[in-house]
Amino acid sequence: MILVTGATGKVGSEAVRLLGAQRHPTRALVRDASRAPRGDVEIVTGDFDRPDTLDVAMRGVETVLLVSPAVPAQEIAVIDSAVREGVRHMVKVSSKASADSPVDRRRGQARIETHLRASGLSYTLLRANAYMQNLLALAPMIERTGGFLMSAGDGRVGMVDARDVAATAAAVVTAPGTHAGRTYRLTGPGLVTYADVAEELSDALGHTVEYRRTGPAEHRAAMIQAGVPEAVATSNAQAFGLIAEGDAAWLSEDVESITGTAPRTLRTFVADHVAAFT
Ligand SMILES: NC(=O)c1ccc[n+]([C@@H]2O[C@H](COP(=O)([O-])OP(=O)(O)OC[C@H]3O[C@@H](n4cnc5c(N)ncnc54)[C@H](OP(=O)(O)O)[C@@H]3O)[C@@H](O)[C@H]2O)c1
Repeated sequence: MILVTGATGKVGSEAVRLLGAQRHPTRALVRDASRAPRGDVEIVTGDFDRPDTLDVAMRGVETVLLVSPAVPAQEIAVIDSAVREGVRHMVKVSSKASADSPVDRRRGQARIETHLRASGLSYTLLRANAYMQNLLALAPMIERTGGFLMSAGDGRVGMVDARDVAATAAAVVTAPGTHAGRTYRLTGPGLVTYADVAEELSDALGHTVEYRRTGPAEHRAAMIQAGVPEAVATSNAQAFGLIAEGDAAWLSEDVESITGTAPRTLRTFVADHVAAFT
């Protein structure tokens, strides 16, 4: 049995869909059963803040796909529950984890990865570059103002479609032995800037979408005004400042080598989601 956490999220929902379609025995962990993914999978309700619910979810599970907002205490609770319940292998979706990063989210990912390595579980780390799906959060601003505000400068990003992260995760959880102890870097097929994003959106929507370059402080304030929690807006603004300096300009061929399929381009992502921007 494979347990997928975060099964209502960007990666978790698609991983559950793929595993269900491939008829792998799969259990999806959700907080709210009414939002559970459909398909040929078991649903279990649980909360990362309630270890008793995690233990129930882990029963009879051999492999866990750990996807969550990566709050260290919560992911550490999932890892500890997996150890208690005799899980064999954990696949963790991660980002650019680093113990000395200025971005607290990345320091948190490093703490979680260290805990997983020391847990005794067999594991695989999937360190992903920024998801194309984050662009969907720009849709309301684009619709309202004809453009978007961003502090990424002309920094290039190996942006990856979360569907490809999910496809890679599904391939790894179904062949854990092949991937034990490995760390993969998941990216799209090319480096793109936010100017490229504006151009792709302009082409797809048939009108100009403007990229308005701004600094981290103004960007942080705009995110908070748009409803992003302060701590997340702070981490995001830090991360975009680093992107402007070239921090996300990395590519890898791991998606294709694991799934056998080339990752989706930005153009494909935009074409598939054009309705969300109109
Ligand atoms: N976004 C990116 O660009 C990006 C890039 C690289 C790596 N990553 C990594 O990917 C991971 C997930 O990020 P994401 O953006 O894919 O997340 P996401 O789509 O927001 O999904 C988070 C999932 O966690 C669930 N969840 C939240 N709190 C929970 C709780 N207390 N108990 C049970 N479930 C809970 C959410 O459920 P609800 O629907 O109930 O809220 C949702 O299903 C993180 O490790 C992140 O660092 C993200």
